[in-house]
Amino acid sequence: MKIGIISDTHDHIPNIKKSVQIFKEKEVDFVLHLGDYINPAAVNAFNGVKLIGVFGNNDGDKPRLIQAFGNIGGEIKGDFHEFEIDGLKFACYHGTERGLKNALVECGKYDVVVYGHTHECKNKVIGNTLALNPGTAHGFWNKATVLIFDTENKDTEIVNL
Ligand code: NI
Repeated sequence: MKIGIISDTHDHIPNIKKSVQIFKEKEVDFVLHLGDYINPAAVNAFNGVKLIGVFGNNDGDKPRLIQAFGNIGGEIKGDFHEFEIDGLKFACYHGTERGLKNALVECGKYDVVVYGHTHECKNKVIGNTLALNPGTAHGFWNKATVLIFDTENKDTEIVNL
């Protein structure tokens, strides 16, 4: 299964649309968003892909974000989300509290920990855990990036927007 991974879009509609186009071309099964959407209206730009998300520290209007996700057939799971695909256990967390993010990576319970917040595209193995940060799709502080993750061979592809 292929997962599109994106974070910290911060209302950048053109880059969200670009990302959606890339995710469609790469035929991802769904898209994981690690938070910091900001304006709930920006979530509409993800229409056309199956969007699963968690909240970021800048996502103040949670009721409207939940509604916006619902409007496009997506789901926002709260501050934390875990799931299992192809035998891989995933944890998703924006990364606001660095100690909590590190604890998720270091606890050994998860095969893949996906986070954002630092706007730094990073792919690191700690013990048996792969820690993935897609960077920022907005592109401030760093260049704009998204990730494609393949659960069958654990391949990670970085795509520049
Ligand atoms: Ni953040």
